[in-house]
Amino acid sequence: MSKPRRLDQMLASLGYGSRREAMGLVDRGNVTVRGVVVTEPEHKAISSDVLVRGEPLEAPEGLLALLHKPLGYVCTHASDEGPTIYELLPPRWLKRNPAVTSVGRLDKDTSGLLLITDQGLLVQRWTSPKALVEKIYEVEVDASLDVKLVEIFASGTVQLRGEDKPCLPACLKILGDKLATVTLTEGRYHQVRRMFASQGWHVVKLHRSRFGAYELADLKVGEHQLLPFPALP
Ligand code: URA
Repeated sequence: MSKPRRLDQMLASLGYGSRREAMGLVDRGNVTVRGVVVTEPEHKAISSDVLVRGEPLEAPEGLLALLHKPLGYVCTHASDEGPTIYELLPPRWLKRNPAVTSVGRLDKDTSGLLLITDQGLLVQRWTSPKALVEKIYEVEVDASLDVKLVEIFASGTVQLRGEDKPCLPACLKILGDKLATVTLTEGRYHQVRRMFASQGWHVVKLHRSRFGAYELADLKVGEHQLLPFPALP
């Protein structure tokens, strides 16, 4: 259970406005604690007891969400390279402190599943090389695939230009002449494109359909979905 916190601090950290705006929200009688209107911003409460305009607080114990990233969007906060994924999220999420961020990144020309969180610990856990979180990518390449690639990708010997260590074994499944899925447990920069490039293929389409236990299911392009916050061991 969370610790009691001042209402104005709690609301400001969850994106309900600046500290001053959060105070105003409380002053004006928009906030209840265990069903009773509280108008003192300094009143301490636990988040599960608090309602704002009759609604429970949004993800008070930490935010985790899925985003179906469209092509053409970048995963940085400020960018002159085009629209950012943060433009697709509710404005309130962008006012949270700690700030929301993506768990790893997809490049501008890749679509698919991105996890969004305000919990640095989750980012660390799920992007650490030791975590070996499986990511599945759907890939289309420019030329007919050769079955020999399956063995090469699985061998743990694929060497990317400019890197010391070869890639960990990856599972390639050939689905059609130029179509495949690849499962990686690492997250190196542009890894899928560079793995194919190292063998002479050019990736023309790339989409991530899975990250660890999470799948896009029927989430539409550009849409997001709040997820239950996982229990961390
Ligand atoms: N591999 C890539 O090449 N790009 C991504 O966005 C993710 C993995």
